[in-house]
Amino acid sequence: MIQISKILQSVPIFKMLGKESINFIIERLKFKTFDSKNTICKVGDPGDEMFIIISGKVDIVIYPEGVEEGQAVATLGPGDYFGEMALLTGEPRSASVITEGPVEAFALQQKDFDVILERYPSISLSMGKIVSKRLRETLKTASNFRRVEKIEITSEGPSGNIEDVPIIDLISFAESNSLTGSMTINSGDKNGAFEFERGALQSVKVGGVSDDKALDEMLSWKSGHFQIKVRPLTLKTNKKKNIEEESRNKILIVNNSLVVRKVIERAFNGLGYEVNTARDIAASQDTMGEWIPDIIISDIKLSDGSGIEFVELTRKEKNIPFIFITDNSIKPEFEEKLQEMGNGEITKTHEVSEIVKLVENMI
Ligand code: CMP
Repeated sequence: MIQISKILQSVPIFKMLGKESINFIIERLKFKTFDSKNTICKVGDPGDEMFIIISGKVDIVIYPEGVEEGQAVATLGPGDYFGEMALLTGEPRSASVITEGPVEAFALQQKDFDVILERYPSISLSMGKIVSKRLRETLKTASNFRRVEKIEITSEGPSGNIEDVPIIDLISFAESNSLTGSMTINSGDKNGAFEFERGALQSVKVGGVSDDKALDEMLSWKSGHFQIKVRPLTLKTNKKKNIEEESRNKILIVNNSLVVRKVIERAFNGLGYEVNTARDIAASQDTMGEWIPDIIISDIKLSDGSGIEFVELTRKEKNIPFIFITDNSIKPEFEEKLQEMGNGEITKTHEVSEIVKLVENMI
């Protein structure tokens, strides 16, 4: 027990925890060993456990479309962890994890992971930062193969030329980014469109022909322009809502990080709130076309504008209260401007319990 706690305390995400918390976690860990060249996680598989390496090394391997060999994006060793992304996001494994030699590790099951995150939210936040970094690195490596860097991101959405990014690569771009929306292609005097739902191709249209024929036709196009239009996911709500549902408080969480969105969403869902999330201002505006939140919890800086711009735009329609969360230092101008506009709070903590308290006070 003593030795295990020493190992755990050297793991960065657990460093801040006291003895009692470490013991709570230890009780939920399972010791596992793996032989050399063993695939512990397989890309695309569902994931229900994460691992903390005690000894040995693993390679994180991705398989970009059209490339025969797997590409290692990272090598992890003692004190590192892996397999957390699937548990945090509910998405399939983002990469394969293959042992270089014999490996000893602790495994943590999803149900125990959920309990631990709920009890120690600071872990999910430090994990969230690592996950964002890992995702960026993985996408960068993949993009070297998929030529996604040739995709320009405009206010309309990603666009570019199919001379630079062939249609087959565009389809895998949409799949790997879980796109929900449309991708229209103009090639000379021909027009075609793909529709995606959470990365799965739903329909292919060129003129009035069948999907299969349309796909064959479009795959033969070698020049032209494409435009991707992302449609924000909307909650599938039952039209016949009962009174209890109607009176649930509504929260919109806006943050660039999927993990931060998921962590806060999970907390408020658990408390019976109706929750929607968006990654940026544009997606929030789309969501609010049909659904008006009681409070917006947002990062102070989003990919398409500042928090102040977000408040100004939203308040043109409705005076919705804002809570801004950040762990960065805030410019005094931001605080002053927010005070002037009123009905807004800033919290410098990512502690979910603190955010819940703030929301409850405001509501
Ligand atoms: P998960 O997606 O559940 O399964 C594969 C794991 O590989 C993933 O969680 C991360 O833990 C890990 N991983 C993915 N990309 C990277 C990366 N760029 N650097 C380090 N680890 C990664």
